[in-house]
Amino acid sequence: MAIRYIEKKQIFQMDTKHSTYLIGLTTEGYVGHIYYGKRLKKEGNHYLLRTKEAPYTPSVYEREKMVFMDFFPFEYPSGGVGDYRESCLDVRGEKGNIGCEFFFQSYQIYKGKAALSGLPASFGTEKEVETLEITCEDPILKLNVVLSYSVFESCDIITRSVRIENRGTEHLKLEKVYSACLDMDNREFEMVTLTGSWARERYIQRNPIHFGKQLVSSTRGESSHQEHPFLALVTKNTTQETGEVYAMNFVYSGNFIAQAEENQFGQVRMVMGIHSNYFCWNLKQGESFQAPEVVLTYSDQGLGQMTHQFHDFYRNHLIRSPYQFRKRPILINNWEATYFDFNSEKLLEIAKEAKKAGIEMLVMDDGWFGKRNFDDNSLGDWTVNTKKITSGLLDLVTKVKELGMEFGIWFEPEMISPDSELYRTHPDWAIQIAGRRPTMCRAQYVLDLSRPEVVEYAYQCVAEILRSAPISYVKWDMNRQLCDIGSSYLDSESQGELMHRYVLGLYQMQERLVTEFPNLLLENCSGGGARFDAGMLYYSPQIWCSDDTDAIERLRIQEGTALIYPLATIGAHISDCPNHIVGRNTPFETRGHIALAGTFGYELDITKITEEERKMIPKQVAMCHKYQSLMQRGDYYRLVSWNEKKPYDCWEVVAKDQSEVLVTFVQVLAQPNMHSRVIYLQGLEECAEYQLEGTQEVYTGEELMQCGYLIPSILSSDKKGDYQSHLYHFLRK
Ligand code: DGJ
Repeated sequence: MAIRYIEKKQIFQMDTKHSTYLIGLTTEGYVGHIYYGKRLKKEGNHYLLRTKEAPYTPSVYEREKMVFMDFFPFEYPSGGVGDYRESCLDVRGEKGNIGCEFFFQSYQIYKGKAALSGLPASFGTEKEVETLEITCEDPILKLNVVLSYSVFESCDIITRSVRIENRGTEHLKLEKVYSACLDMDNREFEMVTLTGSWARERYIQRNPIHFGKQLVSSTRGESSHQEHPFLALVTKNTTQETGEVYAMNFVYSGNFIAQAEENQFGQVRMVMGIHSNYFCWNLKQGESFQAPEVVLTYSDQGLGQMTHQFHDFYRNHLIRSPYQFRKRPILINNWEATYFDFNSEKLLEIAKEAKKAGIEMLVMDDGWFGKRNFDDNSLGDWTVNTKKITSGLLDLVTKVKELGMEFGIWFEPEMISPDSELYRTHPDWAIQIAGRRPTMCRAQYVLDLSRPEVVEYAYQCVAEILRSAPISYVKWDMNRQLCDIGSSYLDSESQGELMHRYVLGLYQMQERLVTEFPNLLLENCSGGGARFDAGMLYYSPQIWCSDDTDAIERLRIQEGTALIYPLATIGAHISDCPNHIVGRNTPFETRGHIALAGTFGYELDITKITEEERKMIPKQVAMCHKYQSLMQRGDYYRLVSWNEKKPYDCWEVVAKDQSEVLVTFVQVLAQPNMHSRVIYLQGLEECAEYQLEGTQEVYTGEELMQCGYLIPSILSSDKKGDYQSHLYHFLRK
């Protein structure tokens, strides 16, 4: 039993394998947060709510209710009635005021977990997950808040979401609805976040918490390159293996906020939800609003354990694709090979050469439709450009399939070029503020997905193409962020709903897509990795991680991404050198080793690379086949980080049954006069013996973990120079 209500104490206790979460009720019915942390062996108690301390609860000492409100650890704080910390819910009533206050009304505990209507969400069977729903009411507005907690006991994960139900008679406006809050005393927490830019996504940041609010957020209409819907509070000593971690990750792909706030009493409030900027939702009588889900996890064994908990959870309870654990085709994408300058002959040339090297799928990227030879036109006109695809799409796909390869195709369904037939016919389908010329980005506007006929049109464009030929894979791109937040479809009262409705429209399309084409391999993408988030993973098992395909840049980007997301979700390709973004030259072999910590594929003109490189591809393909399943299923450990100013980078993946481990070592810059380096492996069976493949070297698991493995100095090997890498594969004897 993962969840219980201890009636005599008025406590809800939720236990996972290694953590406990306690919620307590006061006599008035306030729902307070007692504890989240290492699993308690016994029943929890109420004293941490501090209701026996002055200023006491309002029913004891009403005179100082405000002081109470501004101090009490609320499970779901509402705004306007005396809690000056960040609120999770701001509701404007018909009189124009903001203010509501919630009191416990009822609860239910059930096995399993309900789906969240219109939203991506984690799932599990009745054996895997239990759910607690606490219903609270604002007695004045007759507004209910249903707080949902789903406990995935064996995964050490609790998911939270909130449903707001208007049972009164007023037309309410929700001006802010967050999904989760965690009030704790500050224990010198530091805040781990992921931040960056285009081509520099998800660098790991770590900063001490200080007085006031510190946050990451996006109001760009997508989770963004810049900041990521993830926040972890960690104790000061936290490393990969030690220390306490409280982490939240959002299953949502639009605007968000993830914030930590230290207040006057040394308390920390951690919140996550849809950003309240540009947000205002009408909640008429009888209506309800479902806020997206937050995944919450606690680890007392450092960030590494947190990573395992997220990876296992997402692999088993969020990603639905049949490709989750299935072999993924090794693809070659023509974007960096040709950009817009291609035709069917060129694609077939690439495919033929790729097939010889063992590559399994050709992906035709941007530029096959409308009159598109550059990025400034035709988005929305999803008809095949027969000047380029001369004998039509079906013929091209057939020819690729006759070569023994699969075929994949690129779309950007959410966009509209001002220079397109679609825009000329439906200028009002673009998001824009009436009377104001919308701000362009990459010479394109964004379609108004709050408008049902737009969602229908955009979906049918994609589906028609997929129905027209046997296409196995879709790369769904989104190359600009939203601004000029206006819809000619929504009335003036509802404009504040546009950004969330946009995300709901997107989810609706992807849900239809994976339902109509259940065997399709979908890869999401957004100008690189601007929409790499748990929401999108519900629809696609892999997401293009970054437009920066340089192997050394990828070390940081993929390390940050893998902090939360499984390696098999990380779109990673081997591209040509000098790298198109940074101009760096790296060994072909190193590019392969780094792409192996992702989906693995190619993004180059195979007909133009050197003979020496081309000859290396079959070896790399064999490497991918050999390790793909291990990378998809195993436990990932970050051993050394170049990002933390170490001279080299190193990670490993251990099979769940500990029978093998693959260590990837990247000597980023060559260093003179160095001896071998000790790397401490993790996750092995202590007493088992492991043999390094291809050698007679045998070590015990204990040795490899406690004494370490000696990575030979590159000066003593044939690999001299910068950016060298090596794989070490140990097999249990
Ligand atoms: C951005 C993507 O990240 C690239 O891989 C490529 O598909 C371009 N868009 C095409 O416009």
